[in-house]
Amino acid sequence: MTMLRIRNLGVRFGGVVALHDVSLDLNRGEILGLIGPNGAGKTTLFNCISGLIAPNEGTIHFEGRSLRFAPPHERARRGIARTFQNLQLWGSMTVLENLQLPIDAIARRNTLSDALGLPFSAYAERAASERARAILHALDLGRYRDRLAADLPAGIQRRVELGRALAMRPKLVLLDEPAAGLDAGETEHLAKLLHTVRERFRVSMLLVDHDMSLVMRVCDYIYVLDFGKVLSRGEPPVVRNDQKVIAAYLGEPTPELLEASPPVPEPVITTTIPSAPHLPRTDAVEVARATGTLLEVTGMAAGYGHLEVIRDINLTVQAGEVVACIGANGAGKTTTLRAISGVIRPRAGRVTFGGHDITGARPERISRLGLAHIPEGRGLFPRLSVEDTLRLAVDAAAGKPERLEAAYDVFPRLKQRRRQAVGTLSGGEQQMVAMARAILTQPRLLMIDEMSQGLAPTIVRQLFQMVDLFREQGTAVLLVEQFVESALAVADRAYIFEHGSIAHEAPAEELRRDRGLISGSYLGSAPDSTEAIEVAANGNGHHRVTDPQLMEILSMKVPAEVKRALEERAEREGRSAGALALELLEEVNHSQ
Ligand SMILES: Nc1ncnc2c1ncn2[C@@H]1O[C@H](COP(=O)(O)OP(=O)(O)OP(=O)(O)O)[C@@H](O)[C@H]1O
Ligand SMILES: [Mg+2]
Repeated sequence: MTMLRIRNLGVRFGGVVALHDVSLDLNRGEILGLIGPNGAGKTTLFNCISGLIAPNEGTIHFEGRSLRFAPPHERARRGIARTFQNLQLWGSMTVLENLQLPIDAIARRNTLSDALGLPFSAYAERAASERARAILHALDLGRYRDRLAADLPAGIQRRVELGRALAMRPKLVLLDEPAAGLDAGETEHLAKLLHTVRERFRVSMLLVDHDMSLVMRVCDYIYVLDFGKVLSRGEPPVVRNDQKVIAAYLGEPTPELLEASPPVPEPVITTTIPSAPHLPRTDAVEVARATGTLLEVTGMAAGYGHLEVIRDINLTVQAGEVVACIGANGAGKTTTLRAISGVIRPRAGRVTFGGHDITGARPERISRLGLAHIPEGRGLFPRLSVEDTLRLAVDAAAGKPERLEAAYDVFPRLKQRRRQAVGTLSGGEQQMVAMARAILTQPRLLMIDEMSQGLAPTIVRQLFQMVDLFREQGTAVLLVEQFVESALAVADRAYIFEHGSIAHEAPAEELRRDRGLISGSYLGSAPDSTEAIEVAANGNGHHRVTDPQLMEILSMKVPAEVKRALEERAEREGRSAGALALELLEEVNHSQ
């Protein structure tokens, strides 16, 4: 049965057409994927479904009823929950509190009934804590229950967000980029988790993500948006091979490209730093020129509150070198960048940049010396327009205004959006602004945390090429990246982080050859997004579902004993359980 039915949806923001004539069906029990380039309208569609914005045209029906006049809380009550592209947890509450609050809200408890200890209240409390416990268990969050949400690594926070959505007893969960910022191991875990969640909590899902290893593996069916319109739709293998989708979004497949390991230039240790007028005129240039070492970190430790996150970090970046920091999430890479750029104070050790001791210096001073840091959170001012944001960067670098055009050449999308406030841009467009701004300041060292996060595959590819360009121009780059293979393809050298320290350092070329080292011992192997998905017969309406997926859907609808009996019979008869189930369903259909 169609659970969510969208017809001819249109949304305009002033002159920008964010959605045009979009129609989409989501069946009960399905995980439906929604993919497309940055700014294609995916988050806008989510906002229409959850009621944050009202479409200009079109209709949305949920379980047969129109949502037209339903405000967001009414939609939540009817069973639509969502997670956000930018995490929106209550940071100063514990994980458990984050889950309990929506449960309490739904159960309509109030302080009066609590104070009087009314039976209803006691019952509601028990039910709430039981549900919270079930969610913590299913999402493997038990050991974090009493930790403050803000203190947790992004990967765990994303899981808490999913938990909070589930706490609202939803029938449909809208997931906006749940894999953003997750490492390969975590993404693989999430893929399994989503299937478990569907079965355990009987929810359907609409999933937006740029990580194809997740989308292709978990979705039953996929819609592709481009420029606000439906460009293509179908099962994962169909969409993956659709030329239109390849051209607009996926780009030509890269694995071969990466396998081929293009010859990478020898580490460029430029002892001469370009003496362009934008460079700060300090003796730093002279010192760096003499030593070739731009950044040197020795014995650094840092952390938050009483938690020490990194210790004994020793790391160098030569002028003009590209260095990658890789390692599982929570290994301390982001904290290392933060302690270098002055966002947090190192607790021990020394950081020198271009011959200056910058240990514990203020971020402004460090950035004036030519060290730019693009943090995970992008650090943009939401009300400033794109053009003003970039113009400020050019001014700060004492550059010429025409240089803006160069940035627009790299990101033509930003030129179209130049008068728009940065805060209203799509997630990927904001990431482009952060990159463009850093490029315009022409730093001597650019530290980028998760460059690929939230960006469409084609753009990610372009950005990695750009890193090459930086090197040619003499800008050094220190990358923190979850796309390990792409990072190693451009890097000269890499540090592998493990549990807050550097476990291994090697030339990137060596790591590229010794794939076992990174995939096996440190990072967990990345799921193969190109793995073929077996497709069973036509199962539910217009969607064909894979065998195990069908069984999962069935398991929501039939008692466990029936499902088990079905599986046993299938095994006896040497057939797949899905095929047998379909046959039986057909029989039922005919006899009705
Ligand atoms: N309030 C607004 N005012 C003007 N334009 C807007 C506003 N909100 C969104 N847009 C534009 O609408 C388009 C669609 O944005 P949306 O956030 O839906 O994209 P998306 O598909 O989610 O992209 P991403 O993958 O980058 O997150 C974008 O070009 C964006 O700049
Ligand atoms: Mg978005």
